[in-house]
Amino acid sequence: MNNSNDAVVQGTSNDAAVSRESAARLGYINDPFIRYFVKRPQRRAPLINRGTHSRFDGMQRIIRQFVRKSSSKCQIVSLGAGMDTLYFLLRQQQEQPWRIFEIDFTEITAKKAAAIYKTSALRSLLPQDMAVAKGGTELHSHDYTLISGDLREFATSVVPKLMARGFDCSQPTLFLSECVLIYLDPQHSDQILDWITDNMKHAGILTYEQILPHDRFGQMMIENLRARGLELRGLHAYPTLQSTSQRFLDRGWHSAVAVDLATYHEKLVCEDEQSRLAKIEFMDEWEEFRLLAQHYAFTFAYTADTAPFNSMSMEQI
Ligand SMILES: C[S@@+](CC[C@H](N)C(=O)[O-])C[C@H]1O[C@@H](n2cnc3c(N)ncnc32)[C@H](O)[C@@H]1O
Repeated sequence: MNNSNDAVVQGTSNDAAVSRESAARLGYINDPFIRYFVKRPQRRAPLINRGTHSRFDGMQRIIRQFVRKSSSKCQIVSLGAGMDTLYFLLRQQQEQPWRIFEIDFTEITAKKAAAIYKTSALRSLLPQDMAVAKGGTELHSHDYTLISGDLREFATSVVPKLMARGFDCSQPTLFLSECVLIYLDPQHSDQILDWITDNMKHAGILTYEQILPHDRFGQMMIENLRARGLELRGLHAYPTLQSTSQRFLDRGWHSAVAVDLATYHEKLVCEDEQSRLAKIEFMDEWEEFRLLAQHYAFTFAYTADTAPFNSMSMEQI
């Protein structure tokens, strides 16, 4: 990947933040912090807001189970965190893990660090020992660390930075990849998973990525992104629900389960929540929503049959 491609990939963090802000402003999801990271808000179409709701709900569901069921020293590592507001959401609700580490390209972490630093509603939630580091491109504190780095150099350059900030390989750790690993060559994303496999006993991962490149909708999705200079490099290596979970089992992980967003929305978002959503906006593009949602999947996997992972699942709230 050359630098101009990197710049396009970095731009996807703004797309994700704009969609999150749209869903938050309309009341689909509860995220009072995302607005501080969006310069030019846009109202997304109802089907996109619905998708953002299920995406947010699914990620939060696993993350909150992990934090609630863990012993005191649990860690979250968000790969390609973009403008995700996870730390602030958990902090506000007093459901914090021991440590949260966020990693992204320097261009993104610099923007995020600046937004946090200049916004008192965000800064006041960070601990007293918060310090701006590396020329304003990183934030360091005892429980929240924003690290700049390239995930393609995970073992050689990201891991040493994590270690220097107190990352502990022996503690239960949940890795997150929300539309991130899909942008890496499979060789690079596999190296991250291999590092986890080789170095961590109690690790889990929650990914949310695109699937199904071969049908008409998948082809259209690929072409639309390609027109913007975006390549879903991991899509062909792990194209189906089955293969997204099998990649973990092939590495000897204890469990891996994948569910697509259409199924999540239909079966795992409860009736009360569905009727609350229906009152926010009228939506009649159900066919289109289903098609879109079938092309995104959550995968939850963990390395060993240990707590808290072995008592967590996408079905639980
Ligand atoms: C679609 S955005 C998702 C951001 C965030 N996870 C979310 O869901 O809001 C993808 C993010 O991955 C980051 N990313 C992609 N490739 C990366 C790499 N090689 N190293 C570091 N970050 C990367 C991008 O900069 C971007 O912030």
